[in-house]
Amino acid sequence: MQVGQGTRLGHTGPKGTYKLDFYDRPRYIFEIFVEKLLKIKEKYDIYVPWYIMTSIDNNEKTIEFFEQNNFFSYPRDKVKFFTQGVLPITDLNGNVLLESKDKILMAGDGNGGVFKALSNYKIIDEMLSCGIEWVLITGVDNILVNLCDEFFIGLTKSENKLNGVKSIAKSSPDEKVGVFCRRDGSPSVIEYSEMTDNMKNETDDKGELKYIEANIVNHLFNINLLKRINNESLPIHKAIKKMNYINKDGTLIEAKEPSCVKYETFIFDYFKMVDDVTVLRVKREEEFAPVKNKEGNDSPKTAVKLYNDLHLRG
Ligand code: UD1
Repeated sequence: MQVGQGTRLGHTGPKGTYKLDFYDRPRYIFEIFVEKLLKIKEKYDIYVPWYIMTSIDNNEKTIEFFEQNNFFSYPRDKVKFFTQGVLPITDLNGNVLLESKDKILMAGDGNGGVFKALSNYKIIDEMLSCGIEWVLITGVDNILVNLCDEFFIGLTKSENKLNGVKSIAKSSPDEKVGVFCRRDGSPSVIEYSEMTDNMKNETDDKGELKYIEANIVNHLFNINLLKRINNESLPIHKAIKKMNYINKDGTLIEAKEPSCVKYETFIFDYFKMVDDVTVLRVKREEEFAPVKNKEGNDSPKTAVKLYNDLHLRG
């Protein structure tokens, strides 16, 4: 699992430490994940090992949070933390910016950083030595994520694939989701930030969106594939962001508009290293309730409603 910062959410801590108020009682996002893992234990009599990728900004706070909450009763030795890498931030001309006079301004290397981080921490060898065959990598922000879907694993195996992804039908041309497609013969995702308006609105013969299979950051890997790709490098994507920095004279420049370039890798870009992938379309109301923005779409309010609706449906 990959831990993000709660910046868009307006939360100062790691996103998993955000508390949501459900129909029965409030729960932290991390606590929801533990509940899911404990249900797996109940069903299969096994504590699934849980690897949590943090960033240099939230690693300490994340571990501290788990300690303070006694790991929500999940066995400590089944929870491991590892930290993703960083990349420098530049101005629009590619000049590296400073955080302080002797420190370069850095940010996390994106969720694609998971492959390098798994390799740096020798986690894949550890998993291999424990006999782990399948690994699910998800983001922290989908509170309806299904962490152990036998059907999904079975389908991927039966199609003789080493990797699978889940999709949902995109709800509208402007929904902020990446979409699955094929690019130069390989599976691919076009991220919402890189889609043109034409692509977003393109329809097929039936009038359905052409790019409709939306990515919900639910990536299933056979361990052998993970081992094969973890040293390959991924393309770097640029995003223009509003960030504060220190100029040459040591003066703090408070950003008024987006003028800094953040460099990120995207997890789905591993697709270019494989010929194919199993794509399983799932029901949005059963498996996708993202907590991303403070208000409006994909906010705590919409996620809690989806969670309550599903759990009260029985
Ligand atoms: C992401 C997907 C998008 C998908 C959408 C669905 C990527 C690159 N984009 O977009 O295709 O349709 O979610 O909700 O996967 N994270 C890290 N480290 C980072 C950045 C992110 O671990 O440096 C993790 C976080 O756990 C986060 C997840 O990646 O939960 C997704 O990242 P976020 O930046 O929120 O992606 P979106 O822009 O919402």
